Amino acid sequence: MLAAESLVKAFGGLQVIQGMSLRLGRGELLGLIGPNGAGKTTMFNLLAGTLRPSSGVVRLDGADVTPLSQQGRFGRGLSRSFQIPKPFSRMTVLENVMTSAQGQVGENVLSALFQLGSVAAQERANGTRARELLDFVSLSHLEDQPASVLSGGQRKLLELARVLMTQPKVILLDEPAAGVNPTLLDLIIDRIAEINKLGIAVLLIEHNMDMIARLCPRVVVMAAGQLLAEGAPEEVTQRADVIEVYLEGMPT
Ligand SMILES: Nc1ncnc2c1ncn2[C@@H]1O[C@H](COP(=O)(O)OP(=O)(O)OP(=O)(O)O)[C@@H](O)[C@H]1O
Ligand SMILES: [Mg+2]
Repeated sequence: MLAAESLVKAFGGLQVIQGMSLRLGRGELLGLIGPNGAGKTTMFNLLAGTLRPSSGVVRLDGADVTPLSQQGRFGRGLSRSFQIPKPFSRMTVLENVMTSAQGQVGENVLSALFQLGSVAAQERANGTRARELLDFVSLSHLEDQPASVLSGGQRKLLELARVLMTQPKVILLDEPAAGVNPTLLDLIIDRIAEINKLGIAVLLIEHNMDMIARLCPRVVVMAAGQLLAEGAPEEVTQRADVIEVYLEGMPT
């Protein structure tokens, strides 16, 4: 469904992605793990079209989408969340979900503002679906509140609803459980499993290994911009080389 082939990304002289490949199968729920700074978010940005690779190819449903922008890939069914969700804090929770349907504006506030005029026109059509999704992520009771009232965990749930509003075939989730309390964590895990059951392929970056083990039959481990290991979570996390790269990143 989604493939990265020998991706390289350099910022200035620094190669942060060094020939990384991975494949996400149709309907698969694949984990992407690795220590801080391994290049996971950068891989997401390359897959989503937020960043262009220095070299390498991205394929979506068989087609080479490397030249396409984030908008172009989004139009082909690829949707992503951000590691640090930034909802439009003065819009209501419902409006935040509804605006997502027009195109994934992500962190670009300016382009979102210019799109506000068309929000009104699409409001009725989108409203029903947005409400269904808020129900799905258990935020219905907050739909008329400004997004600024949401807790960290609730922002992650809002982000999930925003991603789903785009009716994707593939979603990329960047640490959907970071900073989330245990009650909401169970809900988020359950919702991601439900989303996957609908046939949506999911690539999940997460540091919470319990969550990875519960959701992902297969994981890919990155370290220093390269593929280090792949396999079942309980297998790869026993590997000495995987344990070592995690320990290297620990403060001493
Ligand atoms: N725009 C940029 N310019 C320069 N360096 C960058 C840029 N974006 C990321 N990097 C560097 O690339 C490396 C990989 O960063 P990335 O955010 O992809 O890691 P990550 O695996 O997502 O880490 P984390 O688990 O902490 O989120 C880091 O060394 C980071 O400092
Ligand atoms: Mg990251």
